[in-house]
Amino acid sequence: MKQIISISLGPSSGDYEFDTEFLGQDFNIKRFGTDGDIDKAVEMLLRWEKRADAIGLGGMKFPDAIGFRGSTAKHTEKFDMLSSRIQTPVTMGSTLRNVAHEWSLRHIEFEFGNYFNNARVLFLSGMSNYRIAKVMSEFTDNLSFADPVLENGISKLLTSLKDLEMYAGGVHEVLKWVPSKRFSTSVTPIAKWNEFIMRKAMQKANIIVVPHHGFYDYLEETTLEELGGKTIITSSAYDDRVQFLKDRGVDVIIDPTPKVLERVVAFNILGALILAALGKRQDEVTDDDLLEIISDQRMDPRVVYPSGDPKRVNRFAFVIHPLSQEFLKKDRTLEFLSKLTPPPFMDAVEMAMAYSPPFVYSNVTGIKSPTGVEAEGWLITLGGTPKQMLSHKPEFTYERLLQAAKMAKRLGAQIMGLGAFTKVVGDAGVTVARRAEIPITTGNSYSASGALWAAADAVRRMGLTKVESGKKIKGKTMVFGATGAIGSVCCRLLAKAFEEVYMVGRNTAKLLALRESILGETPDVKLYVSTRTDKYLPDMDVVVTATSGAGKAILDIMKVKPGCVITDVARPLDLSPEDVAKRPDVLVIESGEIELPGNPEMKNIGLPPKVAYACLAETIVLALEGRFEIFTIGRDIEWEKVREIYKLGLKHGMKLAAISGVNGIFSDEDILRVKRLAVKARKPGKGIGIDD
Ligand SMILES: NC(=O)c1ccc[n+]([C@@H]2O[C@H](COP(=O)([O-])OP(=O)(O)OC[C@H]3O[C@@H](n4cnc5c(N)ncnc54)[C@H](OP(=O)(O)O)[C@@H]3O)[C@@H](O)[C@H]2O)c1
Repeated sequence: MKQIISISLGPSSGDYEFDTEFLGQDFNIKRFGTDGDIDKAVEMLLRWEKRADAIGLGGMKFPDAIGFRGSTAKHTEKFDMLSSRIQTPVTMGSTLRNVAHEWSLRHIEFEFGNYFNNARVLFLSGMSNYRIAKVMSEFTDNLSFADPVLENGISKLLTSLKDLEMYAGGVHEVLKWVPSKRFSTSVTPIAKWNEFIMRKAMQKANIIVVPHHGFYDYLEETTLEELGGKTIITSSAYDDRVQFLKDRGVDVIIDPTPKVLERVVAFNILGALILAALGKRQDEVTDDDLLEIISDQRMDPRVVYPSGDPKRVNRFAFVIHPLSQEFLKKDRTLEFLSKLTPPPFMDAVEMAMAYSPPFVYSNVTGIKSPTGVEAEGWLITLGGTPKQMLSHKPEFTYERLLQAAKMAKRLGAQIMGLGAFTKVVGDAGVTVARRAEIPITTGNSYSASGALWAAADAVRRMGLTKVESGKKIKGKTMVFGATGAIGSVCCRLLAKAFEEVYMVGRNTAKLLALRESILGETPDVKLYVSTRTDKYLPDMDVVVTATSGAGKAILDIMKVKPGCVITDVARPLDLSPEDVAKRPDVLVIESGEIELPGNPEMKNIGLPPKVAYACLAETIVLALEGRFEIFTIGRDIEWEKVREIYKLGLKHGMKLAAISGVNGIFSDEDILRVKRLAVKARKPGKGIGIDD
């Protein structure tokens, strides 16, 4: 049996001994902690030199630190000198640790798909975990390092790898631009301030990297508030450490140290085992030897879910804006002032608000897909109403959207959606997607899908149009705003489902081009185009209105056939509540909103609880799926994307929300009432939609 000895500067209370098998050989492993006593460790090293097959040295503060040798040298110079003189292979496990750290991050990023993408990662000691930081910087720019605060009492987090390297290269460089160390550590308010900085930094992080050495010292002050819901990366997470993190609500522990033996051991022991098994000295083992062993032994990193359930939370942002002055008045002060002052005051406020920088209106939490993946996010609002956005050049809105994208990225969002008019102005998200540093989607694929989903549901419930499965619906349908992003894809979808589709727009050439393209895909549809809004309207069974008319009267509801289903996708709505009230025999629904899975919580966006606009739902579906990519942009929406997002939505538990109109949700009784009035009005000699 071969003998492995681990001498650690760590506490002797963690000593152990056990027998094990590794690479087909038998080993006895003994660990001795010296409670920080270097002389004692040296003495142990000399004592075991001849009797051990390999010795591991553990508990060093910065075993593989970059640059700054001050602290490193203090701990290791005696060992370095001695190790080079003795015959027995001695290792701190550094090579293995470096390979394992890098491999574990890459493995998890690949295995879990975009796991670290734009995560906010806090390193309690960037110097100890430099290798992890370097690899992590490939996946996210949102890095911060607490080294100055925790090592030197300097009230400053480093926020880039470059700053960390500079700090490690010589702390004096950093001291030039922050309050002096002496000042910061000797004055109590600064110590308190540092505690505050650390608490906030932990709360904001998604992932916290905790060094193995000094694990409890780093975390002793932490509570559920700092660690709840976090992912922790830490090496050799022994059972007591897992329990400690569990008690503080940690969701996931990533331990780069593979568990190849019955118990978790530190890298120096694994390193010593490998040396003894191969019969080689530290300097004779190459990275290739290690790679071979890592892959043969399946030395994958450990992923521990302290609660027992796998946990993954992805993040999104979504941009909204006030739809009109009425929405601005929801601010209490403005509401009060608007009552006292003449309308021009509100015009001035509306104009001023358009210039305001974006801000976070609400956090969104509690979304949980049946796959187990969760999503959280931020609703970021611009100040401009549609009127203001349309009265400025598109560049005005682009600029604010790019500010919002920057904010979203800093918050850790992995994808950002554009709500309502933010994608109507200009080129429908193309420029913003090209310039933003996070992926953008307009959400229009799901908006189109949701609108028709809702229309289909309403037509079925009204029961006035014959729907036979597997056959095209014998009915006529019309789309207003047909050449727009949502309108055009609605036309494509309706052409597949209905026998006749009428496309209404303002631009003849665009209409003809769309007609040609749809006939190429769906030759058996009867497709008509018109620039007149009233011409065919009285014959329609289903109407979709998706213009960006910003509340202008688009269609004359008095000309609509009794029993017609109108889906108003536009925001602001194309049909006013007053218009809708004139026709109780027509079912006007407000597009297809989506009910989100889980127990979503967010501030009021003018919809019932759990319900979101379809374009917001698209952003959430993409987040849940880990598809952090530009999905829908521009006005040519691909029909395949509409189908894909619909299917992904079903996979993640999205449901069509109860269909609603200007007065809220339609019950079955409401729909029956509309139907009865429609049937009556269709009888010869009856006027349209007048209740008796
Ligand atoms: N409910 C939801 O979840 C949801 C999601 C996204 C968007 N929306 C809303 O849906 C609407 C359409 O969005 P989109 O992205 O498809 O916009 P878009 O690509 O700009 O298309 C708008 C269409 O409306 C037409 N139009 C503009 N002003 C008009 C007017 N005064 N009279 C008649 N037609 C007019 C345009 O015609 P031209 O081609 O001739 O300019 C264009 O075809 C917007 O109101 C938007 O806020 C709703």
